[in-house]
Amino acid sequence: MQKWINETDLLSYPEISDIEIKTALKFSVEQMVRNIYSFKGNFPGAASFDGFYKPGVNKGWTTGFFTGETWLSYENASFVAGERIGADGKLRENPEGASERTLQDVKDFFSHAAERQVLSFLSRIERKADVDHHDMGFLYSPSCVAAWKLRDDENGRKAALLAADQLISRFQPVGEFIQAWGRMGAPENYRFIIDCLLNLPLLYWATGETGDPKYRDIAEKHIHTAMANVIREDDSTWHTVFMNPKTGKFDHGATCQGYKDGSAWARGQAWGVYGTAVAYKYTKRPEYFSYFKRVTGYFLHHLPKDLVPYWDLTFGDGDDEPRDSSSAVIAACGMLEMAKYLSQEEAAYYTSIARKLLKAIYDACRVTDPEESNGLLLHGTYSKKSPYNTCTPEGVDECVIWGDYYWMEALNRLYNPSWQIYW
Ligand code: GLY
Repeated sequence: MQKWINETDLLSYPEISDIEIKTALKFSVEQMVRNIYSFKGNFPGAASFDGFYKPGVNKGWTTGFFTGETWLSYENASFVAGERIGADGKLRENPEGASERTLQDVKDFFSHAAERQVLSFLSRIERKADVDHHDMGFLYSPSCVAAWKLRDDENGRKAALLAADQLISRFQPVGEFIQAWGRMGAPENYRFIIDCLLNLPLLYWATGETGDPKYRDIAEKHIHTAMANVIREDDSTWHTVFMNPKTGKFDHGATCQGYKDGSAWARGQAWGVYGTAVAYKYTKRPEYFSYFKRVTGYFLHHLPKDLVPYWDLTFGDGDDEPRDSSSAVIAACGMLEMAKYLSQEEAAYYTSIARKLLKAIYDACRVTDPEESNGLLLHGTYSKKSPYNTCTPEGVDECVIWGDYYWMEALNRLYNPSWQIYW
């Protein structure tokens, strides 16, 4: 049995339609109204339990996505203007007692909620609470940079600049990379991971804001190290790369959340797709086009027939393994970003492929009923334990909060093509 889709079937797969984009975006914004009420200022956790996120505090690497979803809802507030949605998701008088939300009411609702969350991010970075890792971009770009870009929110600017300082404090000059996790310089953690490419836009933004080139210089060094070492000969990618602390050269690759060391963790490959696109956006180095095409090509040629990625691309049709819908939407966002810089013909190809992935997700993974889930996308996988990997199992075949965020981002990119990205 063939495990992965062939080129002909990929090219003939249908694309998401404009009506489907609107339907899904509208439901997402409605779901966010309900979630903002029900989470009462708390943040959903990284993954749902039986389809439902539980409220938690601002810790870990994923809370910025909820704020990002809140900002995307703010930008798409017109979908619920004029509607009366209560905290229980029923259409009725809203809790403030107004008979109907005007567009301004809805924008205020989302911006006030997001700005309250931004205050939590400011407090977190000022207290240095759970920020001893590299995920400052995931946390602070869709929350605080977005707040500054959309609303000139000084708290957002201040918090994001502090987060950029925190991120560059993890730079390792020997090897020129930002250390992902753990005590700085610890031999068991002298490594970077492919995901970090999405943390770097925060540094470009910080240089743009302050005029200080140090942030951009570190980002560029890390990108160079990552591009030189993370892509394997067959165009698959390492999840994590250990560098030699004495020579600064590649030591070895290893997985944490993939199936095994030599396999391609689906989300890692997807971070590679979006990561090479943002690397090009900021550096304009032409060789990054070819890295993007290689990493994306591998991802696409290791998808099953229904285009919903298995959690590791080693698996395909016929394997009894869970999927990771979040990988598909991350990769779609990367393709839509890169399409901005490609020739018309190539841009049309990648946009069409992104729309096919989104169609697959629309049909197979989208939440359509708030009774079923308080998330947006089913069938995500955060970390699945295998006999060969080192991860702590969590969120297998569940909603994952970044999957929800990138689903909204992808829909929004297609619905609002002039959207100014938060990254
Ligand atoms: N950045 C961690 C993950 O994708 O699970």
